[in-house]
Amino acid sequence: MIIDILTLFPESFSYLNSSILKRAQESGILTINIIDIRTFSKDKHKKCDDYPFGGGAGMLMTPQPIYDAIKSVQKENSKIILPSPSGKTLSPSLAKELSKEEHLIFVCGHYEGIDQRIIDIFSPLEISIGDYVLTGGELSTMVIIDTLSRFVEGVISEESLAEESFSNDNLEYPQYTRPADFMGYKVPEVLLSGNHAEIAKWRKQQSEQKTLARRPDLIKGKK
Ligand code: ADE
Repeated sequence: MIIDILTLFPESFSYLNSSILKRAQESGILTINIIDIRTFSKDKHKKCDDYPFGGGAGMLMTPQPIYDAIKSVQKENSKIILPSPSGKTLSPSLAKELSKEEHLIFVCGHYEGIDQRIIDIFSPLEISIGDYVLTGGELSTMVIIDTLSRFVEGVISEESLAEESFSNDNLEYPQYTRPADFMGYKVPEVLLSGNHAEIAKWRKQQSEQKTLARRPDLIKGKK
């Protein structure tokens, strides 16, 4: 999968070059390009923002640099994503759907957002990562990429995906590693028993109890 990120703040994206996403890029499963929108500005000072018509607080990103940046990478199979608080909320199923795309283009709005005409021209898929407002689309772009990358084949193991929170509409059970006794806090006996059926039963129970206590809405949603 190829991911192009269009942003005024390319330095924000170092997280994508660490850990699992770094490995996915090194093995050729993912290619992530960071493209500086400012380099496309035709303004003599490379300006990319201006005051909103009609007044109001803050600055808006002007259409020309974004338009040209998109046009420089857009292909027939590209899907354009605009992270925005007014978008569709990110969910595991949306992330899974996006993981099947060949080419994603993320447009990171900043300040008060982008000129509406970019939305009218390109009809991007607007995605929100939650009901709160960030100072720009950079963090949400990373959240969306991180979430969808886990569903791209080869990025993490199938087993990890099957066991994690939300995979069965439940939150994940508690996990433990060595040592079996940490300052008197012991790992539950059943996990040391080697009895796989009992372990599976315990994990399922833990998962259901945790979901009921913390996120009963997930259980209700199932019915
Ligand atoms: N940009 C600013 N706030 C956002 C949010 N909640 N989700 C996605 N993009 C955003």
